Amino acid sequence: MGDLRCRIMYILGGTSAKTIATHLGKRLQLPLLQTTYKRFPDDEFYVRLHDTIAGQDVLIVQTAYPDQRIVELFLMQDAVHDAGAKSISVILPYFGYSRQDKKFEAGEAISARAIAQHISMNADCVITVDPHKDHVLNFFSVPAYSCSAVSTIAQYLKEKNIDFVLAPDKGAKERAKEAAALINCEYDYLEKTRIDGFTVKITPKKLDARGKHVAIIDDIISTGTTMAQSIKELKKQGAKSVSVACTHGLFVGGAKEKLKDAECDEIISTDTIETEYSKVSAAECIAETLLKTVPQLKN
Ligand code: R5P
Repeated sequence: MGDLRCRIMYILGGTSAKTIATHLGKRLQLPLLQTTYKRFPDDEFYVRLHDTIAGQDVLIVQTAYPDQRIVELFLMQDAVHDAGAKSISVILPYFGYSRQDKKFEAGEAISARAIAQHISMNADCVITVDPHKDHVLNFFSVPAYSCSAVSTIAQYLKEKNIDFVLAPDKGAKERAKEAAALINCEYDYLEKTRIDGFTVKITPKKLDARGKHVAIIDDIISTGTTMAQSIKELKKQGAKSVSVACTHGLFVGGAKEKLKDAECDEIISTDTIETEYSKVSAAECIAETLLKTVPQLKN
């Protein structure tokens, strides 16, 4: 396949990234490919492209989560490759499996690497949004880039008059710092210890949150445990309102109920995973990265 940094002419939007694909099409003035997607009676997926794309460049947009969507992505890549596309750029708004980015115990699969290797088979480049750890980009055998939705989230929070930003753990501190700088307010972070997939311990710490409208910002809300515990701590310390914001809203394992029980004032997520909380789009940061990395899209 050709060098990624060449042309992009068509967008192929998958079932898990319809909104972002549409936004990108409008923003970059690129046409969306016509497709048939369906499932057989046994639930296996079917992809058919209706346009002629031999010799053309294609941008595939598909969130790699949950498992079914990953298989869909592989089939989309196969169809585009088989149709003779000159280059395939894969946009993964959310890179599923990327949190298992190393062996924590002997004998484990490095899931991020396994998925990345398979995606790389029919790709010239990959772009993903706010990966949990940047080093997962190295698992792709083609050039891989990341972009951040933090400024888009911060813009939304600014309009909501947020005056304090909190990271629920040290790992999210830089994200909170960046958002706070854009909002022009203070930030801090909490100390979190993860016990298991469903349990975390938040160590109480004196915060300057009394009477403030606080936003807690993280890359992922999964079971909502981290956010729910952080909200409780902030409310105990006199915060006037507490909103939670993330790039990737998985909302599994009773997350919505946990956040409601913790009296969360607002839940905000991007559309890397489309939910009722997708109030801002990650499309702009993806578009900016494409404009920087693809020469013919540069102004
Ligand atoms: C982990 O370090 C991530 O940044 C998130 O804090 C984590 O995925 C949130 O998980 P949960 O919502 O299950 O507490």
